[in-house]
Amino acid sequence: MLDVGRIRQDFPILSRQVHGKPLIYLDNAATTQKPNQVIDALTHYYRHFNANIHRGIHQLSEEGTEAYENTRARVARFINAYGTEEIIFTRNTTESINLLAYTLGRQRVERGDEIVLTQMEHHSNLVPWQILAQEKGATLKFIRVDDEGELVREDFDLIGPRTKIVSIVHMSNVLGTINPVTELAQRAHAAGAVMIVDGAQSAPHMPIDVRALDCDFFAFSAHKMLGPTGVGVLWGRRAMLESMPPFMGGGEMISLVGEQTSTWKELPWKFEAGTPNIADVIAFDAALDYLEGMGMGAVREHEIAMAQAAMERLGALDGLVIYGPKDPQRRGAAIAFNYGELHPHDVGTVLDRHGIAVRAGHHCAQPLMRRLGQVATVRASFYIYNTLEEIDALVEGLRETERFFSAEAAGARTK
Ligand SMILES: Cc1ncc(COP(=O)(O)O)c(C=O)c1O
Repeated sequence: MLDVGRIRQDFPILSRQVHGKPLIYLDNAATTQKPNQVIDALTHYYRHFNANIHRGIHQLSEEGTEAYENTRARVARFINAYGTEEIIFTRNTTESINLLAYTLGRQRVERGDEIVLTQMEHHSNLVPWQILAQEKGATLKFIRVDDEGELVREDFDLIGPRTKIVSIVHMSNVLGTINPVTELAQRAHAAGAVMIVDGAQSAPHMPIDVRALDCDFFAFSAHKMLGPTGVGVLWGRRAMLESMPPFMGGGEMISLVGEQTSTWKELPWKFEAGTPNIADVIAFDAALDYLEGMGMGAVREHEIAMAQAAMERLGALDGLVIYGPKDPQRRGAAIAFNYGELHPHDVGTVLDRHGIAVRAGHHCAQPLMRRLGQVATVRASFYIYNTLEEIDALVEGLRETERFFSAEAAGARTK
């Protein structure tokens, strides 16, 4: 059990007011708030040992390099990677997937080949593959989503001899669905394909073991797990990373540079061209330390409890439809819903007047919205600092939204 009261004290932003009301932050699937430990690590770096890393022989540079590489080692442990050289720092999940599309994708995919995705992908795990497929004359295939928000199992047979890449979201940012990644990885490998996992929503919310997942690549973002913006991770199997060409060229990623050609540094630096995001990577270590202090098992348990309570309490509102699996064990705590005829943007705007931050829109998953037959949904997403009382406030805010628009409609009718 998480001590949520205690945890909340570490997050200064949670004591601010919005429109005169205490902030209730339920947009965690978009980005999470940062504890003092992360904010302090960031300012500590700039105050005490700001310097460029990997280059200098002076003390500051050495300290910075050590701290930067320490984060890499912690990330490797956090996801049970085989080694630190398999951890590449990027800007975010989107860049991690683009890195793969532009290197591995260009190397492996040819005309007539297939790339298998699902209907529930975030645009960041769709658009890079569209660009690649158009360049190469390859085809994208989609595992469908059923009415429960789960993948249609018979579509797993889409993974076949022409498949070169299978790239699938681990936990949906809209439906919350947790996908059977290990099974899909085994299918991909049996077909000779590479298995990529978009872990942007799973890494912050559940224990991750890339060995057990049996995938070849796993991508996620620091900002969705208490860390700073501007830091992403790409984990990959060493042999695959070694056989891939670099993504970007420049300083830091080279070994020897001639006038016409160059050779590359060893892993992981081959994929980290230019001055990296030193301060934010260093502060990300504090975020991982914070999560490890609670234990990712406890984080997941808290979220199962929040998902269950949110689905029960929201589901009791007449006309409210929740998308995604009903079983909280099968899903994360991002709860997308629509409420009667109310437009999601109207709901989001009225809730904001009550200090409640939710997201309304297509959540960067337009093909999934079309599958659901919706243009947009409201999404409330929970994290370690959210309470059951905040769910009640959300329910009350929705009731008031409904009353407000019913009164407006009645007023319009009598005019
Ligand atoms: C499932 C999923 N994949 C990828 C992303 C992209 O993450 P980023 O914007 O940090 O690149 C998100 C962000 O919302 C996401 O939810």
